[in-house]
Amino acid sequence: MKRIQGTDIRGRPDERLEQALRPSSLDAFVGQPRLKERLTVLVEAARQRGEPLPHLLFSGPPGLGKTTLAHILAKEMGANLRLTSGPSLEKAADLAGLLSGLEPGDILFVDEIHRLSRAVEEYLYPAMEDFRIDIVIDQGPAARSVCLSLPRFSLFGATTRAGMLTAPLRGRFGLVNRVEYYTAEDLVRVVRRSARILGVETAESGAWEIARRSRGTPRLANNLIRWVRDYAAVRAEGEAISAAVVHDALEMLDIDADGLDEMDKKLLETIVYKFAGGPVGLNTLAVAVGEDPGTIEEVHEPYLILEGFLQRTPQGRVATQRAYRKLGVSRGEEKGEQSELF
Ligand SMILES: Nc1ncnc2c1ncn2[C@@H]1O[C@H](COP(=O)(O)OP(=O)(O)O)[C@@H](O)[C@H]1O
Ligand SMILES: [Mg+2]
Repeated sequence: MKRIQGTDIRGRPDERLEQALRPSSLDAFVGQPRLKERLTVLVEAARQRGEPLPHLLFSGPPGLGKTTLAHILAKEMGANLRLTSGPSLEKAADLAGLLSGLEPGDILFVDEIHRLSRAVEEYLYPAMEDFRIDIVIDQGPAARSVCLSLPRFSLFGATTRAGMLTAPLRGRFGLVNRVEYYTAEDLVRVVRRSARILGVETAESGAWEIARRSRGTPRLANNLIRWVRDYAAVRAEGEAISAAVVHDALEMLDIDADGLDEMDKKLLETIVYKFAGGPVGLNTLAVAVGEDPGTIEEVHEPYLILEGFLQRTPQGRVATQRAYRKLGVSRGEEKGEQSELF
C-alpha cells in the first residue's frame, strides 16, 4: 500500500492533520442528513432531561466519521470522551479499571467493539444495563468480590463489522447508527472544506475529480487532497488544482477514475480470470490475491459491491457485468486472456 506523509492511504491517520481536518460540530459535519437529524434530537432530549445520552452504536466502513461523531456528541453534551478499543481490553480487569474511573456523564468510546473478548463483553453487560460491576478486592484467601455502582455514563461503540457483534451486546445499545458512504456532492464539500483549512487553491473541476475518486469516504478524500497538494507543489507549481492535475497526481498512486486501487482491480481480475467470474469463497480469494480476508471484506468489498462491480452470494463472490466491462472483456472471453495475466 502506498504511503502519503507517514499515512497509508486507507488506514492509520496522521494524528495532527487528522485533528485539523476533523469537523468539531454537527453543523460542520458534512452529509448523513438523517443520522445528523436523529443525533440532534437525542442530544436535545438528553439535555432537556439533564441526563447522559443513551448507549449508541456506530457502524459502517472505515473513514466515514464514526470517531468524529463521537467527539462531536461529547462536545455537544459537554462530556468527557474516554477512548479505548476492543483489542486493547484484554481482561475484564482492564475494563473494570476504566469503568470505575468514570465520572457522571462521561462517554466511554470503545472502537472496534466487535473485537472485545467474550469475557470482557460479558463484564460490560451489567455496567451498560444497571450501571454496576463486580470487582475483586484483596488477594489470596481474603479475595472477595464486591458490587460497585457506577455513575450514569454513555457507552459508544464503533464497528466496521456490525454483523460480528453478538446479539446480546447489540441489544444493549439504545440505537444503532449506520454511517453510509458519501455521495460525490458531499465529498466535494469535504474536499472544499479541507482545501480551505490546508490553504490549497482548488478549481471546481479538481474538487470534483478528487471527490469521484474517494470511494465515498471522507478520510480518503482528505488523504487524496494532501497528496495532490504535494504533487502540485512539485510538479504543477503555482497552478490551482484542476481535474488534470488530480488525474496526473492520482495516476502515480494507481488510483483510477472510479477510485479503484491496485488491490480492487486485482480482486476483480482474479475473480474474472482465475475463477471464471465466480462464485469464489472469500478465503480462496484472499489466498489468490495475497491479502487478509478481513481487509478484503471490510475495506475493498463494500465499495466494490456498492458500485456494482461485485456481488456477494451464498456460494461466494461473483464478478458483475460492470466488472467485465471495466476489464474490457466479456463473459466467456476471459479464458483466452488468462495466460497473459497469470
Ligand atoms: N461528515 C464528515 N464531514 C467532514 N469530514 C469528515 C466527515 N466524516 C469524516 N470526516 C473526515 O474523515 C476523517 C476520518 O473520520 P473518522 O471519524 O476517523 O472515521 P471512522 O471513525 O468512521 O473510521 C476525519 O478525521 C475527518 O477529517
Ligand atoms: Mg474511527
